Formats: sequence, C-alpha cells, structure tokens
Amino acid sequence: MKTQATEQEMLLNRTGIMTNPELSAELIQGAKEAEPSPDGDLDDIAAKRAEYVEEALPIGSKPMPVAEGDITGAADAEAEGATDAGQALSLLLDKLGERLAFERQGTRLYEGVIQKCELIGDSEGGPSVADLRHIHDEEMEHFKMLQRVITEMGGDATVQTPSADIVGVLSHGILQVVSDPRTTMAQTLQAMLNAELADNDGWQMLITLATSLGRDDLEEDFEKALESEQEHLENVRGWLETLTLSEAQALPAAEDDAASERREHESRSAKKKSSSSRKKKKK
Ligand SMILES: [Fe+2]
Ligand SMILES: [Fe+2]
Repeated sequence: MKTQATEQEMLLNRTGIMTNPELSAELIQGAKEAEPSPDGDLDDIAAKRAEYVEEALPIGSKPMPVAEGDITGAADAEAEGATDAGQALSLLLDKLGERLAFERQGTRLYEGVIQKCELIGDSEGGPSVADLRHIHDEEMEHFKMLQRVITEMGGDATVQTPSADIVGVLSHGILQVVSDPRTTMAQTLQAMLNAELADNDGWQMLITLATSLGRDDLEEDFEKALESEQEHLENVRGWLETLTLSEAQALPAAEDDAASERREHESRSAKKKSSSSRKKKKK
C-alpha cells in the first residue's frame, strides 16, 4: 500500500546520481542498452543546422524613420564617410529600440520584485520596498526618455526592432525567476543581477554608438542613465551578497564543522612539525 510522502521527504533533493548508487547503476546500464531514438549522429545534426542557417531570414528588419526628425548626426556620420545616413539612423534606432524594450521589461521586473518584497517582508540586509520602488521609477524614467529620443529622431517607439526582439527573448529567464512564487529574495536578486549587468553594458554600448555616429547631443541624457544603472548594479550586488552571506552565517552546523575542521588541520600540522623535529634530532 502506498504511503503519502511527508513534506520533509518531498523537499529532499534526489536529483543527484549519488542519492541511490544502485538505481544509478541500473539507469546507466539501461541507457547503454537503449538504442538512440533519432536516426543519425552529430554530423547529421550539424548538416541540418547548416540548412536552416542558409534558409533563415534575419530576425526582423531594421527600423526606419516614419516622420521627419533630427537626422543631423547621422548626416554628419555620412559626411565623415562612416556610413550612409539612413543606415546609421536605422542602426541607432535599432539599438535605441533595444534599450527601450529592456527598460520597459526592467520596470515590469521590478514590479514583480516589489510585490515579492511586500509579501515576504523586508529581509535583513536586503532591499526595502522603498529601495526597489526607487529603482523601478528610474527604469521607468529611462524608458520615457528613450521614447522621447526615438520620437524626436523621427522613429516609431512602438516598433519591435531586431535587437529589441533579442533582448526580449533573453529576459524571459529573468522574468520566470522573479515571478516564480517559490523563489527567495536572494534568488530573485540573482536574476536581477543578470538584468542589471546587461543593463549597464547596454547603456555603455549605446553611448559609444551614439558618439561614433556623431550624436554627442545624446550623451548627457545617456550618461545620466548609465550613472543610475551603475547605482542599481552596486545595490543589487550588495543586497545579494549580504543575503547570501547571512544565510551561511545562520548555519550553526556549518560553522561548527568549519571550526572542527580547522582544529583538526591545526593539530595535524602540529604533529607533523614535532615528528620532523624529532627526526632532525636523531640525525
Ligand atoms: Fe535600466
Ligand atoms: Fe537598472
């Protein structure tokens, strides 16, 4: 008769192969005896991928201005022989669209973190709701600023650019971790650290690109955004570190183990020293 597993049993991690060596051996034996289900080998997979790459169309097409906007910078870039003005503008619009999508997503991500923080309460050394709201509001400000810049350049801020599409796909994992009801604040912050690292690099890249295309006028706004992104990164990194370390410090058993290991090590080295000094005396 089957007995219901207790909560403690259910929470026991059995994913590792060492949990049950006998069953693991059976599993390995079974895998060796089984035929590979699909026909073909790695070469066939590579050939199929090559076929797909050859046939594939690009991920979306680059955005073009829809209204008369300020294309002075792009025209300058053309004058310097850097690239065609239209292409330069289109490239900039693509990357602006990427940051816009990321900041929009960032705002939603922080909405999720705020909700989680409200539900589980402030954790010591972790962020407060007010801290998170502050970052959320700055992500929103960045989004609005980008929306304005794109519009002023004659672009359409609602366009899904190829780069925006890619960051959207990349952010899926982060969103899943944040919205998962089981994740702790530390695990949620781990996901947010990934977002903030990408955010920082994204702004740096955008500043470099805008400057190289002659759009020095955008530098001030973008540098200000980067400055606040650096603060986000520093804070998230700090909270994550504090929460992770306080989790380790809250483990008395681990502390005891480490202390006894240290004592054992010290006594072993003391014994070694005294035996080598005895040997020397004998000589
Ligand atoms: Fe951001
Ligand atoms: Fe940020």
